[in-house]
Amino acid sequence: MFGPLKIRIILHQSIVFHRYYTLLSISLDVIYKKKEVQVLLDGQRRKLSKIALIPTMGNFHDGHLSLIELARDYADYVVVSIFVNPTQFNDEKDFENYPRTLESDIEKLTKTGVNLLFLPDLCSLYPNGTDDAIKVIIPERANDLCGKVRPGHFEGVLSVVLRLFNIIKPDLSVFGQKDFQQKLLIEQMVMDLSLGIKIIGAPIIRERDGLAMSSRNQHLSFAAKLTAIKLHKTLLEVSYLINPKKGEFTSILKEAEDKLIGYGFDVDYISIRSSIDLSIPNKDSKKLVILASVVIEGVRLIDNILIG
Ligand code: PAJ
Repeated sequence: MFGPLKIRIILHQSIVFHRYYTLLSISLDVIYKKKEVQVLLDGQRRKLSKIALIPTMGNFHDGHLSLIELARDYADYVVVSIFVNPTQFNDEKDFENYPRTLESDIEKLTKTGVNLLFLPDLCSLYPNGTDDAIKVIIPERANDLCGKVRPGHFEGVLSVVLRLFNIIKPDLSVFGQKDFQQKLLIEQMVMDLSLGIKIIGAPIIRERDGLAMSSRNQHLSFAAKLTAIKLHKTLLEVSYLINPKKGEFTSILKEAEDKLIGYGFDVDYISIRSSIDLSIPNKDSKKLVILASVVIEGVRLIDNILIG
């Protein structure tokens, strides 16, 4: 049914590698340099293609692949970037240990219909290096939840995403709701800086047992994975117990936190917020989100459930 799958790896305009596979007739360009990516995308823009960007740090699971599927519904040309961004890690060891699985990532991408994989080198994104880089500063109120637990993290995230937006100039970009605070901050950055990019939120993809898919899950032992399942269960219990009209959640949250501690988690936070701006809700807040961040075996897990 399909012709040959073509993966074209463009390292530099003069060096073009072609690899042919026999099953599919999809062509995936893999580019490392921002100049080459810009030339290719200028061509797409001349054809009036709607361009989508999905920024990632690789090590793909079905959560990442779901963003691509969503992007294909909205765009004619889908770009995925993989870059393990040093400026968003507070812990150098965490950065070094981040799983880098390029070969299997490319294999997964070839089955998704992505048009371009951008693998920027450090210099393409940070021409002056990371220490001398211009950074985006987040508003004070975002030093809350994950912003409080991981100081500097969101500055790093927004800084790299802005750089990617400026190189790719996408019409739209897809972000997972699993990283709820990240998605809201990116939406705010797009609005505050008039970037004119549509941000689409994608639902959380979970394992069958309810555990939110994450690149970090593979660092968990079998026993810790069994415990990790209880994070989602606890959030579900909270969602059944709360009455949004009352706007008073302290005792339910305290009980949930004690339960999580009892299961063996270190709890960074469990909180109920307005899903519009993560402010503390009152009884008039209609759209809520229950969010939690916990650590087990040194692995940080985040999850959330939307209400209303
Ligand atoms: P990464 O953790 O690789 O995630 C890339 C995208 O996949 C993010 O938008 C994230 O929310 C989404 N994602 C991860 N797990 C998901 C799941 N289980 N269901 C649905 N979506 C999921 O987030 C980052 O990278 C980085 O901070 C980045 C934005 C790329 C900036 O460096």
